[in-house]
Amino acid sequence: IRTVGGHVGVQLNYVSHEIVKEKPALPGLPSTFPGEEDCDTLILHLEDQTTGLTAELIYTTFEKVDVITRSVILKNTAEQPIYLTKVMSACLDLDCTDEKYDILTLHGSWGRERQMERRSLMHGKQSVGSVRGESSHQEHPFIALLSENATQDTGEVYGMHFVYSGNFLAQAELSQFDSIRMTMGIHPENFVWKLEQGESFAAPEVVMTYSSEGLSGMTHHYHDMYREHLIRGEYRDKKRPILINNWEATYFDFNTDKLLKIAKQASKLGIEMLVMDDGWFGHRNDDSTSLGDWKVNEQKLPGGLKLLVDQVNAMGLKFGIWFEPEMISPDSDLYREHPDWAISIPGRVGSLCRNQYVLDLSRKEVRDHAFESVAAVLHSTNIEYVKWDMNRQLSDLGSVELPADRQGELYHRYVLGVYELQERLLAEFPHLLLENCSGGGARFDPGMLYYSPQIWCSDDTDAIERLKIQEGTMLLYPLSTMGAHVSDCPNHALGRVTPFETRGHVALAGTFGYELDITKIPEEDRQQIPAQTAMYHKYNDLIRRGDYWRIASYLENGSYDCYMVASKDKKEALITYVQVLSRPNFHSRRVRLKGLSPENRYRIEETGEVLGGDVLMQAGMLIAPLWGDYRSRLIHLTEA
Ligand code: DGJ
Repeated sequence: IRTVGGHVGVQLNYVSHEIVKEKPALPGLPSTFPGEEDCDTLILHLEDQTTGLTAELIYTTFEKVDVITRSVILKNTAEQPIYLTKVMSACLDLDCTDEKYDILTLHGSWGRERQMERRSLMHGKQSVGSVRGESSHQEHPFIALLSENATQDTGEVYGMHFVYSGNFLAQAELSQFDSIRMTMGIHPENFVWKLEQGESFAAPEVVMTYSSEGLSGMTHHYHDMYREHLIRGEYRDKKRPILINNWEATYFDFNTDKLLKIAKQASKLGIEMLVMDDGWFGHRNDDSTSLGDWKVNEQKLPGGLKLLVDQVNAMGLKFGIWFEPEMISPDSDLYREHPDWAISIPGRVGSLCRNQYVLDLSRKEVRDHAFESVAAVLHSTNIEYVKWDMNRQLSDLGSVELPADRQGELYHRYVLGVYELQERLLAEFPHLLLENCSGGGARFDPGMLYYSPQIWCSDDTDAIERLKIQEGTMLLYPLSTMGAHVSDCPNHALGRVTPFETRGHVALAGTFGYELDITKIPEEDRQQIPAQTAMYHKYNDLIRRGDYWRIASYLENGSYDCYMVASKDKKEALITYVQVLSRPNFHSRRVRLKGLSPENRYRIEETGEVLGGDVLMQAGMLIAPLWGDYRSRLIHLTEA
């Protein structure tokens, strides 16, 4: 903290505590909830008598999923304002003097999100973070501490994951006495929050878990935690409609006619929803204009949106639409009318990124306008899905409404603004399926998951690159949350050509959909779509509800990937095997399965062979080399 006198010391002493059988929600923030489970919450009340700052440290236990959540509420009870300059949401001190530890983080970039990275914990502080205004492509608001010998299924793992979508810091420190301190919270860089007398500040929540069964144990805790205590809404437990999105099919070059042709083909092949992506509004024919002008471009969609949606619905397809509500193009009516609505520093020309500025969502009138623009479109016709995109990071931070000593609040106020907007949207349209997105997967975080049951994972739709991206994502997130589509080849992100079948198998791990011009792809690919959509319907319940197990990692071994999902009752399992590069004169691979019951006997659907769960887990099964690069196989087991 900093006081008006410029002092930075704070001493929070114990005052009292209480234990309640509930979990209080955090004002304005996404947070986990008890659901069906009984939760105990310990609230420690602390006070610094000199400054009048009080703190509530809030710990909730989720026993069934082995999770403790932690957040903090600070309050100024004195007359003088207090400036908060650093608020970590959780701090974990571990006295581990004998053992060596590693840390695991998820690193990335556009098109390469959430790649797992493990390194030894050394003396001093090691951290990852974001000061980009969003959780970011580059780092993920997650850190885990692993005993040095921990593996996929053995050893100790302590995970910390932040339910927040803005700037964050995740840090591990090995001290002079070899004790370890793990901290997580809003990044202190450019953060100053003024607390006037009586005002409070709620710090977002951290979800912490411990596993003695390596990474798999941690993954299972997070998956069950998020499925049961974070994701909301009617789609949480439901199969999602198979969608076809026109982004990679047409980019900005589309009209009603083209979309209807895509929809018509799609409807015949088992696809259930058409999503119209960027470019339907203002005069947006490339990425240089019109964000903020959420009025249909009638040159592209003559007769308006309703006419298009009615025709799509008449073909038996649902309709979804793309928005980027947080943004404003300098070339837009909105910007010409309200240039001060963009985040900017007075007197400085702000940096453009993808030709756009960011709306100042700390201002109520700006939020109201953004909400009303989106709501008006959604009310105008039968729209059942929204892809909420966000395509630039924040820079040149300044808000015309905030006084000088509150400018340091803007990053966080922005995130609170996004949360408020999405909450309003869900309240107004409770049946809407919302998919968050940020230039691919730059805001794939537990905060966003509270509002949307699925998030676009990456703009890289290449099946082989996706193996790495999806492995990092599945480490923490239930498979049902991972936006994954079959796209056309050569792949638009890197030019690779992979079999259509493999693209389907890899997308099956996530929400499953298509991102291609179905009227133009090779006939032999198109012919595979009915079988692929049937495959989705056959396996999606298992994939959404089951336990995910990692068997082999392409990221680690450089040659093949293998993972499986086993149903909770252990009666069914689906194994996905992807051989990346083929090798001449190579032997079969032995794949040892996981998560089955050793007592059960399982029938392998493809061969009819029946084997014991113990055999499949200990001796494993042999997978013969596949002919050609980038080939894949699905293996389905049911109880015999
Ligand atoms: C980034 C998204 O990730 C893409 O899927 C697409 O919606 C574009 N934005 C549109 O501008």
